[in-house]
Amino acid sequence: MSAPLEGRVALVTGAGSGMGRAHCELMAERGAHVIVQELLPERAQEVVAAIRSSGGSAEAVPGDASNVTLMRERIGQALARNGHIDIIVNNAGIASRVKPFEEIDEDFFDRMLDVNLKAAFFCTQAVVPAMKRARWGRIINISSMFAMVGSQSGAHYTTAKGGMLGLTKALARELAPWNITVNAVAPGLVKTSMTIESLKTDDAFEARARGVPMGRLASPREIAASVAFLASDDASLMTGMTLSPSGGEALVGF
Ligand SMILES: NC(=O)c1ccc[n+]([C@@H]2O[C@H](COP(=O)([O-])OP(=O)(O)OC[C@H]3O[C@@H](n4cnc5c(N)ncnc54)[C@H](O)[C@@H]3O)[C@@H](O)[C@H]2O)c1
Repeated sequence: MSAPLEGRVALVTGAGSGMGRAHCELMAERGAHVIVQELLPERAQEVVAAIRSSGGSAEAVPGDASNVTLMRERIGQALARNGHIDIIVNNAGIASRVKPFEEIDEDFFDRMLDVNLKAAFFCTQAVVPAMKRARWGRIINISSMFAMVGSQSGAHYTTAKGGMLGLTKALARELAPWNITVNAVAPGLVKTSMTIESLKTDDAFEARARGVPMGRLASPREIAASVAFLASDDASLMTGMTLSPSGGEALVGF
């Protein structure tokens, strides 16, 4: 039996750590060639090396995912090298110090929207023509539970993540005739460098886990399992949907 993603080329943005890295590793295990897009070149190279040493196939595309001109050029080069990009996971994201709504200034708002939403819009635009030609594509947008329940993480972050759900639904309808599916994954709290920066202590994570109906937080690998499913032929008729593998956290928020 062949691996479910054999022959597919998958691009993951913000793939140098946390969940992005987990998406790359799992899709590579399932047979995909993975393009590791990441702001920090050394992180991208580390992920590529780890995948290759486990027998997988990967290459690095460093750079700021929200730099539209740069990404058009680098994704274009990756397309030329590989002939096709079948899967894009728009995972690049930043969080920040929580601030009251009135204190979020324009620069802060713009940076949050650039990385968490604009990058997804334009990186996807760079791969869609090739997906249309192939009449096959999988676009997976990483949103957040906060887009569904609101948040204490800052209105700018939640605005961007809500935009990811709107983008998902709009593209799902627009690209359906080309057999391109577009779905979102909206994680609850996952322990990664992003959240360690704000929650800091194990006690803080444990307190949050106690509020989850299933009693624990998801691991990056459990989020990656939803992404790999949406990327596969098993999800062939699933489009415009949002999966939230959060142990029920998305039902109750925090
Ligand atoms: N961790 C959580 O609890 C949680 C919950 C819901 C959603 N998310 C979302 O999941 C995604 C991954 O988050 P994570 O927790 O794994 O974060 P992380 O901080 O561990 O990893 C994010 C990676 O993206 C890279 N990055 C940052 N800005 C970039 C840019 N402009 N261009 C390219 N790469 C960039 C970082 O260098 C880092 O390697 C984000 O979109 C985040 O908003 C996270």
